[in-house]
Amino acid sequence: MKIIRAKDYYDMSRKAANIISAQVILKPDCVLGLATGGTPVGTYKQLVDWYNKGDVDFSEVTTVNLDEYRGLPKEHPESYWSFMHRNLFDLVNVRPEAINLPDGTNMDAKAECARYDAVIKSVGGIDLQLLGIGHDGHIGFNEPCDVFELGTHCVDLKPETIEANKRFFDGNEELVPKQAYTMGIKTIMQARKVLMVANGVGKAEIIKKAFFGPVTPEIPASILQMHPDFILVGDEEALSLI
Ligand code: F6R
Repeated sequence: MKIIRAKDYYDMSRKAANIISAQVILKPDCVLGLATGGTPVGTYKQLVDWYNKGDVDFSEVTTVNLDEYRGLPKEHPESYWSFMHRNLFDLVNVRPEAINLPDGTNMDAKAECARYDAVIKSVGGIDLQLLGIGHDGHIGFNEPCDVFELGTHCVDLKPETIEANKRFFDGNEELVPKQAYTMGIKTIMQARKVLMVANGVGKAEIIKKAFFGPVTPEIPASILQMHPDFILVGDEEALSLI
């Protein structure tokens, strides 16, 4: 585990974008695992900026996203499909056919999870997986539970996650979907490199618990302690307790 201290959110975003750019430069046809949420927005912004300056080229990259709300149409502004197009895909030259997310409109959970696992396998696995971390230690939508879930699966979102995400749904938790499809822990752990971004004092406690406490499915991110190439880029506040 490598921990990189950044001064602030902007510095964190630039450092993370540098690591992603290096991956794309070293292996132009790499597979990037991508995340949504508030934390990586600045990282994507920086990548778009470097793309516009001609410093990074996504023409051969394949992407696989971590998760998607179940039951939300792709075009919904809060679907992860929309988020990714708005923040990255529409702004760089990644090929539309090289973009992969779980299909939240497929209500057949078993079939959709099997399809998504097959997609990840068919692209040869993930070279670099970008992650955020939830306040309860979730990664993707792998919520605290009794066992580490392995492959793509359908989850019932915990009340805390619904509460945390309602800010994206006019502050109305009734509008937040109650289930999601998420990549599993095994798939994340099989990524050849894992890069987590974390900022703000609100993440300090969970960063300490996840990476300086026991490895337990009650704190899903804690498994990353065992990953051979895990990098955490955090700002001063998120790393303030370690
Ligand atoms: C997003 C995802 C989530 C977020 C986590 C942190 O695709 O999988 O695990 O990374 O909820 O979200 P933010 O960055 O909004 O604090």
